[in-house]
Amino acid sequence: MALLPHVSRRAAVFGAAAFPLIRIVKGQSRPKNIAVASANGVRACAKAIEVIKSGGDTLDAVIAGVNIQELDPNDTSVGYGGLPNEDGVVELDASCIHGPSRRGGAVGALQGIKTPSKVAQLVLSETDHMMLVGEGALRFAKHYGFQEEDLLTERSRMAWLTWKREMRDHNGHTNWESGVDAPPAPKKTAELRKLFPHMDDELIAWAHEVAARPPTGTINCIALNEKGEMSATTTTSGLAWKIAGRVGDSPIIGGGLWLDQDVGGAGSTGRGEENLRIAGAHTIVENMRHGMSPKEAALDALRRVARNFNNDERRMQAVDLNFYVLRKDGEYCGASLWNKRSVTATTAASFSVCQNDGRSHLENSVYLLERR
Ligand code: GLY
Repeated sequence: MALLPHVSRRAAVFGAAAFPLIRIVKGQSRPKNIAVASANGVRACAKAIEVIKSGGDTLDAVIAGVNIQELDPNDTSVGYGGLPNEDGVVELDASCIHGPSRRGGAVGALQGIKTPSKVAQLVLSETDHMMLVGEGALRFAKHYGFQEEDLLTERSRMAWLTWKREMRDHNGHTNWESGVDAPPAPKKTAELRKLFPHMDDELIAWAHEVAARPPTGTINCIALNEKGEMSATTTTSGLAWKIAGRVGDSPIIGGGLWLDQDVGGAGSTGRGEENLRIAGAHTIVENMRHGMSPKEAALDALRRVARNFNNDERRMQAVDLNFYVLRKDGEYCGASLWNKRSVTATTAASFSVCQNDGRSHLENSVYLLERR
C-alpha cells in the first residue's frame, strides 16, 4: 500500500483513530528539562533538575530527588519517620521506571531500609525481576549493602501510640490507657505529654488528627530531559495503621506509577486502593496516547474513580487521591479528586514543578470535586 506523505503506516492502516498518535509525535520535537512531583516534592524537583543539568540520567535524577523526602524524619508519609502499620512497624513501598530502557523495578512491604526507591532501582538494574516484597526484599537490600535500621521516630511512635489509645469499646474503654474509666480529653493529653515530654501541643494535636484520620502521603516524581528521555518513581510508607503486609498503589507498576517513553508518565498519591480500582497511572498515559492533554487524561481517570462510588460525593468525602502527569513534550499537570484535602484545609490541592531555571515551586492542581 502506498503511504501518503507525513502519514504513518499505522494511520494509513487504521484510519482516523490513529491520528491522535500523530499529535503526540509532533509534540515530541521540543523536549526540555522538567521535573514534576507531588506537593511534598519541591526539593525533589530541584534536585532532579540539578542532576539532569549535570549530565545525570533521568532515573538517577528522580531517585536522588525523592531520597531527600525518604530521609527526612519530618515527612511522615515516606521512608524514615513514615507512619507505621498497626503493629507499629514502618513498611515501605516504592517503584521506578526508566523510560529509555523501558524497565521497571519495585519493592513492597519493605521494613528497615530508609530509601526503598533505591532498592526498587536495584531490582530494575540488577535483576530480571520486577518486584520484591517483605523479607526477600530486605535480604536483597542487605546483599547490596543497605543497613537495616529502626525507621520509627519519636514523632511517628507517638502518633501510633495515640492511635492505639484512641481505639475504644462502646463504653469508651481502651486497654492502652491507665484506669478503668475513659479519662476526659485533658487527662488523655496529659498522659501523652508525660510519655513524650519534648512534644509540643501542636505535635500532640497532629497525633490526634492522624490517629482519627489515617493519612496516605507518598511522593511521586517524574522527569524529562532535553534529549526527550523520561523516568519516574513513587515511594511511600503507605496508609497509616494498615494491616501488616498491606501494599498500596505506589509499588504497583501501572497503578501508582506508569511511564511510556513514547508518550509520558503519571504517578499518584493518596488512597491507593481507589487508584488501583482504575489502574490510574496506566489509564492516564493511555489516555494521552490517544490524544488527551495531561489535564483531560487525569480528569478522565478521576471520573472513573467517582463512577466507582456512583458519583456519590458524600461517600467520597474521605477519599484523597492525586495524580501528577508529565507528557513527553513537557506538558504537565497535577490533578486531584478534591479541590482541597479537607473541608477545613486552607490551601488548594497542589503539586511541585521545576524547569531548567532550577526554581522549584508549587502550582495548583486541577480538580474534579469541590468541598463546600
Ligand atoms: N498511595 C499510597 C498508598 O495508598 O499506599
